Amino acid sequence: MTTAIYPGSFDPITNGHASILRSGLVAFDKIIVAVLNNDSKHPLFSVEERIDMIQESVVDMGADPARVEVDSFHGLLVDYVKSKNARVILRGLRAVADFEYELQMANMNRHLNDEVETVFIMANDAYFYVASNLCKEVTRLGGDVSKLVPRPVAPKLRAKLGM
Ligand code: PNS
Repeated sequence: MTTAIYPGSFDPITNGHASILRSGLVAFDKIIVAVLNNDSKHPLFSVEERIDMIQESVVDMGADPARVEVDSFHGLLVDYVKSKNARVILRGLRAVADFEYELQMANMNRHLNDEVETVFIMANDAYFYVASNLCKEVTRLGGDVSKLVPRPVAPKLRAKLGM
């Protein structure tokens, strides 16, 4: 059984993340969505809120909940991967702009633990431009992102931003 760790800030989860998760479930038996617990990134949502939204989104997208675990981690990602007896990190790639950052992270993680492999899945082209930060900015400015985030997320985003 191959388990992949899908790490990220998920502040909040978007349809881009959900599409990577859906594709990841074609390739892997189990996916652990690992939410970064790091206040220095000044997230809008607490770790608990982000985990709840991911869990609700997994149900909403009809994924098998037995194959998706949602957890949080702090410290080095490779140490977390090892603690879960996993060897695969799953990341999504959108445009070329993601490539350099992802290449740097994948190589740093390989340097830290060469038994861990990073696997990339191309984002669905419908969500190439979707990013959590843009969804927050657009909502804050009164725009509608309800088609860009999972159904349970849109009202929470509006409420959090007082819209
Ligand atoms: O969704 P993001 O913010 O692009 O995810 C970034 C994440 C969480 C994958 C990355 O910041 C991370 O792995 N942080 C843990 C710290 C770590 O292991 N750093 C060294 C590897 S670059």
